Amino acid sequence: MFTSIILAAGMGTRMKSKMPKVIHRVCGKPLCKWVIDASKKAGADRVCAIVGHKAEMVKETLGDVCEYALQAEQKGTGHAVMQAADFINEAKGEVVILNGDTPLVTAQAIEDAVAYHKSCGNQATVITAVLDDATGYGRIVRNSDGNVMKIVEQKDANDEEKKINEINSGMYVFDAESLSYALTKLTPNNAQGEYYLTDTLEILLDAGKKVGGFAISDNDEIRGINDRVQLSEAEKIMRKRINEMHMRNGVTMRDPESVYIEDDVEIGSDTEICPNVTLKSGTRIGSDCTIGSGSVLDRAIIHDKADILSSVILQSEVGEETHVGPFAYIRPNCKVGKDVKVGDFVEIKNSNIDDGTKISHLTYIGDSDVGKRVNFGCGTVTCNYDGSKKYRTVIGDDCFVGCNTNFVSPINVGDGSYIAAGSTITEDIPEKSLSIARARQINKENWKDKRK
Ligand code: UD1
Ligand code: MG
Repeated sequence: MFTSIILAAGMGTRMKSKMPKVIHRVCGKPLCKWVIDASKKAGADRVCAIVGHKAEMVKETLGDVCEYALQAEQKGTGHAVMQAADFINEAKGEVVILNGDTPLVTAQAIEDAVAYHKSCGNQATVITAVLDDATGYGRIVRNSDGNVMKIVEQKDANDEEKKINEINSGMYVFDAESLSYALTKLTPNNAQGEYYLTDTLEILLDAGKKVGGFAISDNDEIRGINDRVQLSEAEKIMRKRINEMHMRNGVTMRDPESVYIEDDVEIGSDTEICPNVTLKSGTRIGSDCTIGSGSVLDRAIIHDKADILSSVILQSEVGEETHVGPFAYIRPNCKVGKDVKVGDFVEIKNSNIDDGTKISHLTYIGDSDVGKRVNFGCGTVTCNYDGSKKYRTVIGDDCFVGCNTNFVSPINVGDGSYIAAGSTITEDIPEKSLSIARARQINKENWKDKRK
């Protein structure tokens, strides 16, 4: 067990954004939340984020997923960690320090670093990486025996140190007590006039403590996000990880590069996700489904064997063996039952559609409760809004709704009723009736000739 501190007080100037950097999203999840989740998954029992720039916005976005400490003025990474002094004093075991703008770090790497730190008996372990171009990063200075001696920032490095290509990832494992001690000794005597967290290593070595470096195996994991280009690169890497996870779980994707699946989506085995599909966080898809090209699903629940083609489904549930699309739009708060057909250019909103019902084409159903095995003709419209209030349309089981019917709600249609095509229904219909609500047809014979 360990605790973790996540540095998230910086501004992120290069994002050129009204939003602080750490709440920009990768695959639907704020950068900082990825780091919080990874450290919890690795075994952190308490997590504290250091917030500063637009702290309220960061806290509001992340909510109660972690604790917070405020760094009102940003005077360096060491100063940031000092703001969590109480948290560190209460910590049992190790304190892992991570950056809120490094979303690709995995739980596995954190676990490995903690295990390495313990097995070496270190008081501080810095996570390092070897890069072709180390410009901008703090360099890891080792002695001839390969032991870590200190970290030198780019701005403070001499020419020899600038040639070092092992860098500080900005992530560390500390023994809690040693960290508390080292923080009290930090001074801002450097090129940037800041309290550098990196100086803690030298301080601990001077006090006779053991310090080490843990080289990460995948350099992608330490990628920090500074601008929108790096944000898109991280998105691409994360998207690949997510898609591969689903494919390994038994999901088919013929063109994973064009599939956009956010974090927190579940997909059952033998389901196929076709090209250009977007699945937003909170979506749950069963087994043996097909999600056809161009579909967008946001917090949708799709049961087994459903088939969705080029459609948009928002915050709604679709039952087993139901067919949706092409080009259907299911808006929030719908519950569509089993073996239902929602065909082309059908829009449904805030409605319940029971099992076996067919809504095949060009129809709008809003604020309605529709029974089982109802057949809607083409062009049915529920007139659910009178300009100020919305009303419900209730249709019983086994009804047949003729083409081009309008329901001026509130309306109640009893079980087993038939409605003639072209009817504008303004009154309730008893069960098993035939309702015809249209002008009777008149044929004026020879009208064309008489017109002259
Ligand atoms: C830091 C390290 C450097 C390392 C690099 C890795 C120091 C002195 N240097 O440099 O060795 O190679 O990260 O990316 O630590 N932050 C605060 N409060 C502050 C300052 C920073 O919360 O007062 C946060 C930032 O928002 C960011 C993180 O700490 O998430 C790192 O700060 P940044 O200014 O990017 O440090 P670097 O100069 O990149
Ligand atoms: Mg940085």
